[in-house]
Amino acid sequence: MQEKIDELVSELKEKFASVTNMKELNDLKVEYMGKKGIITELSSGIKDVVNEKKKEYGMHVNTLRTAFNDGFETFKTRLEEEMVNQKLKEETIDISLPSDKLQRGSKHPFNRIIEEVEDLFVSMGYDVVDGPELEDDEHCFRLLNYTVGHPARDAQDTFYIDEEYLLRTQTSASQSRVMQANTEKTPIRVICPGKTYRRDDDATHSHQFGQVEGLVIDKNISLADLKGTLEIFARRLLGEDTKVRFRPSYFPFTSPSCEVDVSCFKCGGKGCNLCKGTGWIELLGAGMVHPNVLRMGGYDPDVFTGFAFGTGLDRLAMFKYAIPDIRYMYTNDIRFLKQFDACDLSDKS
Ligand code: PHE
Repeated sequence: MQEKIDELVSELKEKFASVTNMKELNDLKVEYMGKKGIITELSSGIKDVVNEKKKEYGMHVNTLRTAFNDGFETFKTRLEEEMVNQKLKEETIDISLPSDKLQRGSKHPFNRIIEEVEDLFVSMGYDVVDGPELEDDEHCFRLLNYTVGHPARDAQDTFYIDEEYLLRTQTSASQSRVMQANTEKTPIRVICPGKTYRRDDDATHSHQFGQVEGLVIDKNISLADLKGTLEIFARRLLGEDTKVRFRPSYFPFTSPSCEVDVSCFKCGGKGCNLCKGTGWIELLGAGMVHPNVLRMGGYDPDVFTGFAFGTGLDRLAMFKYAIPDIRYMYTNDIRFLKQFDACDLSDKS
């Protein structure tokens, strides 16, 4: 019996040594410890052994069982370690390799202008409000006194989505929304910066551009308030010695309406290529809120008056930074954007 067990133990050792994976190890378990396994059968053979030999027999079987259990644990641990090491090897990261260079972003001139305009008006007690870019005809035109078939609708080449919805052509659409949301509540003092869309595309026009709208409604608001506000706006943004002039104009939602020019901040009004020799640069459209618009917005025009203005943010940025083509604003070329890192908006050079 001793000999047989020694033989079985050395055979078992050889088998363990040739195991290369978990499956083979588990197969070995079945072969020795399974229902019909070698050790199981030897164990149940004890019943046929004569009593005085039972103890010895049991010890021999236990030797084999212990050899199996020890071997099994040893090889299981070894295989598991090997698997972990293999995985680590496959997932190795060479930390000595140079990394991809991270590009640092840069604040977009469009955002620089928005921030400056917002800061300025917030300091004068205005709120900043947002409006939807996908607008309905009602807010973009009808509530702004553009009746159906109004010729002024043609002045803005519009992207219609369907009969009712369009991409807003002007932030003035926010005027009607603000009035509707506040009905009869005053004072209203808001600016609405955002994206606008028209079917235009050349060096100075983009199908997408930015505007900022201003709206003030209260009792006793006059044209003098509008003039004073816009003079402050122009001087703070473009420099204290900026001159401002008001020209009569037409917008369906304001009356009277005007366009506002500023003295050219490049040549100071002498005439240069930026102002095309005129000394003036057109800055914005403005006017007193039309009584029809007040009425449709829920304000009694006999009690309340207001003014509104709107200007192109890209235009402002282009003038400020001497950007020759509006399309640069929308190509996200880091080389273009980087140029403005050192710019201070109050720097007129
Ligand atoms: N919405 C007008 C435009 O896009 C500008 C404007 C705004 C005019 C507010 C008057 C009052 O041209």
